[in-house]
Amino acid sequence: KETKLWGGRFEEGVTDAVERFTESISYDWQLYKYDIMGSKAHATMLASQGLMTASDRDIILEGLDQIERQIQEGKFEWRKDREDVHMNIEAALIERVGEPAKKLHTARSRNDQIQTDVRLWCRDAIDKILIRIKQFQVSLVMLASKYVDLIVPGYTHLQRAQPVLLPHLLLSYVEQLERDAGRLVNCRERVNFCPLGACALAGTGLPIDRFQTAKDLKFTAPMKNSIDAVSDRDFVLEFLSANSIAAVHLSRIGEEWVMWASEEFGFLTPSDKVSTGSSIMPQKKNPDPMELVRGKSARVVGDLMTVLILCKGLPQAYNRDLQEDKEPLFDSVKTILGMLEVCTEFAQNISFNSERIQRSLPAGHLDATTLADYLVKKGVPFRTSHEIVGKSVALCVSKNNCQLSELQLDDLKAVHPAFEADVYEYLGVENSVNKFISYGSTGSNQVKKQLDDWRIQLEDW
Ligand code: ARG
Repeated sequence: KETKLWGGRFEEGVTDAVERFTESISYDWQLYKYDIMGSKAHATMLASQGLMTASDRDIILEGLDQIERQIQEGKFEWRKDREDVHMNIEAALIERVGEPAKKLHTARSRNDQIQTDVRLWCRDAIDKILIRIKQFQVSLVMLASKYVDLIVPGYTHLQRAQPVLLPHLLLSYVEQLERDAGRLVNCRERVNFCPLGACALAGTGLPIDRFQTAKDLKFTAPMKNSIDAVSDRDFVLEFLSANSIAAVHLSRIGEEWVMWASEEFGFLTPSDKVSTGSSIMPQKKNPDPMELVRGKSARVVGDLMTVLILCKGLPQAYNRDLQEDKEPLFDSVKTILGMLEVCTEFAQNISFNSERIQRSLPAGHLDATTLADYLVKKGVPFRTSHEIVGKSVALCVSKNNCQLSELQLDDLKAVHPAFEADVYEYLGVENSVNKFISYGSTGSNQVKKQLDDWRIQLEDW
């Protein structure tokens, strides 16, 4: 067995169980690109500070490049006995280039190294998620553009409430996604500070330049406190929180679309490309991708919980527990990327069943609130008009559940004298939708304007 890079004071090697239990290379190898990036910046800085010769630096940079190529070509052997990504790469570098490589770990610890790697990794991961969010937004805006005038029932408590334009509903998802993106952008700003040079926890007596490495790695600045720099995973928590909120949004869309695809609703039909069948029931066509979007949100939320609980009892500075943040972090990112991709494809492959939706619109007195507003315009106080319309609805129910628009003017006048002939301009879902004028409402001018705004904003991005 080879001696560990930290093996100096040890007389015996670790047991196999301990080696298996403590290794992280089986998953943290994914950080290799960032680990190498960090090592290159570090070596470059050490040379410019006179802590290493220019020729040692060049040998190290060249060696790291070769290792990176080897990894990319799948020819690098990741060794569990070398524990983690840092020691795998460093040991391989020493093997490859010899003595100069032994200077690389000057004024550096795996504690600041891992933080640097993870922050760099998160930066790129956030950028990838932001692109996927945008793609989903674009697919929703395109879907909305196909159904500019389609009125659908709006629900509260899953009971029919008021008529809304379908694009209004679809744009409500777009707004939510925009905030999801905003949270990630925000989080990225805090991720982007450089822990490198914090060393184990206390910094170093060697004359390093942390500003140089921070700048080289495109961080905003070095982190100000070396203990803080190796202690905290709040940036991981923030990232996983942002992912969780986004995942919950996607899950709700999943639920809505699954429901709308049911026979009972029958409002939308997914194409075959995004549906799957049953192994026993030949007739089945299921919206599985969106069910799994709903299902996988559980993982994303679970990942956040794992890291929250992981961090809660830790004393300040590095603790090995922190190694356990990687798998939930990787899982959260992989999962949310998959969810967004499938949501986008689903949006590109569904059609809304306009006819069936239209046929369903008479049910549920969706125009009742518009009727109450009509009476307000006639000078009736809202509380009173609410009561009057309630009675009018009761009248409908007593007349074989007819629609408000089917009541005779005399019937309405009998409920309240404020009703006049123009009341019929307010009844029925089309009339009702046309009466909405408030900012952000479902009125078609409002919705068309917002649809245009989103088209422009998403093109510019
Ligand atoms: N694999 C470790 C992690 O993920 C790297 C840092 C280990 N540091 C140490 N002193 N054991 O956190």
